[in-house]
Amino acid sequence: MGRLVAVGLLGIALALLGERLLALRNRLKASREVESVDLPHCHLIKGIDDTVYLFVVNHPEFKNTVEIFKFEEAENSLLHLKTVKHELLPSVNDITAVGPAHFYATNDHYFSDPFLKYLETYLNLHWANVVYYSPNEVKVVAEGFDSANGINISPDDKYIYVADILAHEIHVLEKHTNMNLTQLKVLELDTLVDNLSIDPSSGDIWVGCHPNGQKLFVYDPNNPPSSEVLRIQNILSEKPTVTTVYANNGSVLQGSSVASVYDGKLLIGTLYHRALYCEL
Ligand SMILES: *[C@@H]1O[C@H](CO)[C@@H](O)[C@H](O)[C@H]1NC(C)=O
Ligand SMILES: *[C@@H]1O[C@H](CO)[C@@H](O)[C@H](O)[C@H]1NC(C)=O
Ligand SMILES: *[C@@H]1O[C@H](CO)[C@@H](O)[C@H](O)[C@H]1NC(C)=O
Repeated sequence: MGRLVAVGLLGIALALLGERLLALRNRLKASREVESVDLPHCHLIKGIDDTVYLFVVNHPEFKNTVEIFKFEEAENSLLHLKTVKHELLPSVNDITAVGPAHFYATNDHYFSDPFLKYLETYLNLHWANVVYYSPNEVKVVAEGFDSANGINISPDDKYIYVADILAHEIHVLEKHTNMNLTQLKVLELDTLVDNLSIDPSSGDIWVGCHPNGQKLFVYDPNNPPSSEVLRIQNILSEKPTVTTVYANNGSVLQGSSVASVYDGKLLIGTLYHRALYCEL
C-alpha cells in the first residue's frame, strides 16, 4: 500500500515537472526560428571571441616544425591543428603569431645541418633571416642578421622586434599591410639578447640576456653563466630607456633567456637552469 502511494506521488511529481519543462521551453521560446535582418555597416569587434591558439617551435631530430594548437575551453585541453614545415624555415628559433596559422619566424641560421650551422656562425656570414609564413604565402621579409633569435610584436600590431643575439642588437621593423617588413632602427646593447617579451599594458620590451655568452657554451660550475634582464621603454623614441631590472652572477640564476611580465609579476626563465618569480 505504502509503495503504491509512493509510486503515485512520484508519477504526479514527474507530470508536474514535465508540465513545468514545457512551460519553461515556451517561456524561453526554445523553438522559435529567426529570419535574418542584415545591416549594411556591421563588423565584428576584434579579440572578443578570444580563440586561443598556441604555437610551439619544435625540433624533432634536428628538423624544424611549428606546431599549432587551439585551446578548447570546454574540455580544458589543446587540440592539435597543424604541423608547419617549409624550406624557408630551416632553423627556426622563435615565432610571433599574427593570425590563426600566420606568423613571423626567426631563422637563427641559414643552414639546418649542425656542421654547416657551426661553420656559418664561425665565419660570421650574417645569413640569418625573418620569414613570414601563412597558408598561402611564405616569404623572407628581413635578412642579414648574425643570429636572429627572439621575435615579438608591439601591442598595436605595427612593429616587429627582432633580437640578433650575437650582434647584441634589437631591430625594430615596421610591418606593412602586405606583411613585408622595413627596418626602422637598431638598438645596440652590451649583452647577448635572447628572447623578447612585451608588457601588454605598457608596450615595454623585456629581454632575457646573457652578459657572458662564452660561459654558456663552455660550462664550468665554478664559474657559471650569469643572468641579466633588461627593460626597454619607448624604443621608438630618440633615446629609449634601458634599465637592468635584474642581474645575477649565476649564484642564484644561470643563463636567463626570457623575462616575461604581467600585472606587476615577473617570470625569468633560463636555458638549462631554474626559473625565478619576482614581484615588481
Ligand atoms: C614584399 O616582398 C616581396 C618579396 O618578399 C616582394 O616581391 C615585394 O615586392 C615586396 N613588396 C613591397 C611593397 O615592398
Ligand atoms: C619567447 O618568449 C615568449 C614570451 O614572451 C614565449 O611566448 C615564447 O615561447 C618564447 N620563445 C622561445 C623560443 O622560447
Ligand atoms: C656571486 O655573487 C655572490 C654574492 O652575490 C658571491 O658570494 C659569489 O662569490 C659570487 N660568485 C662568483 C662566481 O663570482
